[in-house]
Amino acid sequence: MEPDLLARMDRWLPDLVAGLAEVYPDPAVADRVVELVVRAHRARPEHLRARDDARVLRPDWFQLPSTIGYAAYADRFGGTLQGVRSRVGYLAELGVTYLHLMPLLKPRPGANDGGYAVMDYRSVAEPLGTMDDLEALTRTLHEHGISLTLDLVLNHVAREHEWAARARAGEQRYRRYFHLFADRTEPDQYERSLPEVFPTFAPGNFTWDEDASAWVWTTFNRWQWDLDWSNPDVFCEFVEIVLFLANQGVDCLRLDAIAFLWKRKGTNCQNQPEVHAITQALRAAARIGAPSMIFKAEAIVGPVQVVEYLGTGRREGRVSDLAYHNSLMVQIWSALASRDCRLLVRSLRRFPPKPTTTAWATYLRCHDDIGWAVDDDDALAVGWDGHLHRVFLSDFYAGLAPGSFSRGEVFQDNPATGDRRISGTAASLAGLEEAVLAQDPQAVDEAIGRLLCAHAVLFGFGGPPLLYMGDEIGLLNDRGYGDDPEHADDNRWMHRPKMPWEQAQLRADPRSVQGRLFDGIRHLIATRTTLAALHAAVEATVHETGNASVLATVRRHAAGNVVQLYNVSEHVQVVDTSSVTRHGMTGTATQRLSGAAVDLNGATLALPPYAAWWLTASPP
Ligand code: GLC
Repeated sequence: MEPDLLARMDRWLPDLVAGLAEVYPDPAVADRVVELVVRAHRARPEHLRARDDARVLRPDWFQLPSTIGYAAYADRFGGTLQGVRSRVGYLAELGVTYLHLMPLLKPRPGANDGGYAVMDYRSVAEPLGTMDDLEALTRTLHEHGISLTLDLVLNHVAREHEWAARARAGEQRYRRYFHLFADRTEPDQYERSLPEVFPTFAPGNFTWDEDASAWVWTTFNRWQWDLDWSNPDVFCEFVEIVLFLANQGVDCLRLDAIAFLWKRKGTNCQNQPEVHAITQALRAAARIGAPSMIFKAEAIVGPVQVVEYLGTGRREGRVSDLAYHNSLMVQIWSALASRDCRLLVRSLRRFPPKPTTTAWATYLRCHDDIGWAVDDDDALAVGWDGHLHRVFLSDFYAGLAPGSFSRGEVFQDNPATGDRRISGTAASLAGLEEAVLAQDPQAVDEAIGRLLCAHAVLFGFGGPPLLYMGDEIGLLNDRGYGDDPEHADDNRWMHRPKMPWEQAQLRADPRSVQGRLFDGIRHLIATRTTLAALHAAVEATVHETGNASVLATVRRHAAGNVVQLYNVSEHVQVVDTSSVTRHGMTGTATQRLSGAAVDLNGATLALPPYAAWWLTASPP
């Protein structure tokens, strides 16, 4: 065995073996996995081995303040993979160093949940190109200092995937890849404690399949078959897939719907401990065979549970490297609607510390809807009723509440739980659509201020911020999504528009909406890159300021602290200077986003509407 491979075996084999032992009683599974890893490593191209060496020396690459993410559908951004390649200059102009291309592996024909119903993990969706195009794209991205993230859809496969087809054909080996039930007895037992993800267009969690002559576990759509991860064959299949993708140059895998992997009666079948054992083993396998690759968990779950995806206790730093910070996203929208940051502070304080080797992926919008994950106790602590606040947020962002600036739509109205999630682009939710339609320049200014303030919170929080395609130029809702019959029943397509490249040209005009947003975001990126305190190894803490509309965020770091103030309202807000000095900053500070000096000797500070201040101590 090559010495580098041997060294990595030494380092990560214990994680692999321990993870596997928690889930699969047969010790021979570890031998099988090692064999697969060695084989994949032998096939690893030379230039990627060099990338491995570099990343082993710089394992915190994704934690650096210079890491800036961008998420886009390949077809909507560039038409094809070659088209994406021709747009890499645009990403570089913005300062992006991490690109998440939405599902691009071969999906089932027809409706496919935006590619989240994969039929073949080893080929690219036909209209987008080929595996060779993907390889060429990763090389171009790497030349521009951009890492590539792809989705690893591992909770389910398309009903048309070969494994499912063979299961239907009666092959026992493949029937064991899925959760198949001859009658309703077990499905009914599970259903008692299972929520519904898509109650409107895919109610229930099981689908009768005539060909399989079984009830099939289908958490999402009826053509997305959940895999049975208690079967070690499924694990081994995914080891091969992970390393295959790594060998194409993929740098990060977004573990799609990871929370749902393990099923247990009497629970909601999310966040089960086995999920983390499986992730630990899968990551150890990837670290041995392709150590430049990292994992990002997509677990839209509560604070205590989500930290487990980054690893707590004995699993500290042993599972995913990145995890989406769903609560921060929800709380930013809540604060903008209520002009009140107290619930944000309360909710974020619930988070246990994350491992220092990991990072939050922060975001304002993504391709999914927003679910109002507001905890009743947190709401109560600030004097609100949790249910009523969630109703308010849905009404507000659907544009139904008086005084709302928003033009979103309700997604998955669930009368059983009272949940009404929200679809819409960041710009439309933040008031830009309304302002443009009303031809109201002041409202346009406010919407731009609101969007930049919200982005500043993300960019200042620590951990790679993920821009969602088009937000940098204020793309509005795509009301035409319903013209495509495959999208008509899913209004998440409203916030998945095609990139209007002509409109993007307007970014060159600093007075245009596009130019103001693009420059504002580019400026956040440039400033962020200069602040060592934004390295994700340290945590952001959040604080009240005595003025509900103003949030304080603090990052303590050996390289110098940063105190941030955010005014989430359209009015000037005044706070006591102690909101800054109590965090140890005195004298004069520098507002790093504007370069202005801020005198901390007075009694109060006045923040303009939607101000975002990143303060560092001025040199004595
Ligand atoms: C994830 C994706 C979502 C998809 C689901 C099922 O939550 O973000 O778009 O519908 O998984 O794959």
